[in-house]
Amino acid sequence: MGTIIVGAGGHGRVVLDIFRQAHNVNPVGFIDANPALHGKFIDGVEVIGGAADIAALTAAGVDSALVAIGDNATRNIYAQALQANGIRLVNAIHPKACVADTARLGRNVVIAAGAVVCAHCRIGDSSIINTASIVDHESIIGRSAHVCPGARLAGRVTVEDFAFIGIGATVIQCLTIGRGSTVGAGAVVLRDVSAFTTVVGVPARVIRESAEALVPSAHAAKIRIA
Ligand SMILES: CC(C)(COP(=O)(O)OP(=O)(O)OC[C@H]1O[C@@H](n2cnc3c(N)ncnc32)[C@H](O)[C@@H]1OP(=O)(O)O)[C@@H](O)C(=O)NCCC(=O)NCCS
Repeated sequence: MGTIIVGAGGHGRVVLDIFRQAHNVNPVGFIDANPALHGKFIDGVEVIGGAADIAALTAAGVDSALVAIGDNATRNIYAQALQANGIRLVNAIHPKACVADTARLGRNVVIAAGAVVCAHCRIGDSSIINTASIVDHESIIGRSAHVCPGARLAGRVTVEDFAFIGIGATVIQCLTIGRGSTVGAGAVVLRDVSAFTTVVGVPARVIRESAEALVPSAHAAKIRIA
């Protein structure tokens, strides 16, 4: 039995390293939408094919996967498509991450090296808690969100589905970062951020607001697994 990593880019390499350091998953190949990568080896692991090849791989003994795609919406779409095809989604938890016993993690979650997930946090399916980031006590991270390297969330912060907390950003306690919103690199967030809004700076200010919701189903049709 083996596990595939969906996405052979930078995040895929990070996930492969976590699996190797954690010694708890057997990564047998990458899957990537870019045909130019097929047949190539990344850190000794072959890019076996694209999403259309996954059904054949399951017949050959692949039973699980982790979707290692940086884009939040795309990662969620692949994760749901894999699950719908009976493929188990696994987590990648770096052995040098610190995850509280009382924290609860969904599926297809990545907790990278040096990240700290404190007491009573909840991390939703397909979310990334990236290198050396901090998610402090009782914070709630929704589905397919990304807390980038070095970002810091104080206690009781809520990060809604598909939100992106940029590298080195800080969010003070008890705030809500809305669905699909973006917090720029290095921002210091002192107020709630509305859905589909981009904030930057210290203190964080709004630079963009969008009424446009993410529409995963529009992308889902492009992913053919079986
Ligand atoms: C916030 C962000 C998404 C905005 O990107 P964008 O939509 O392309 O915005 P632009 O580059 O057009 O910048 C718009 C304005 O915001 C400013 N700005 C953008 N990002 C900023 C940031 N992080 N901090 C302060 N100001 C920022 C720009 O200087 C520009 O100001 P101006 O209009 O006065 O010239 C991007 O700059 C950012 O910070 N991304 C995070 C990247 C990251 O964390 N990567 C880690 C991956 S693991």
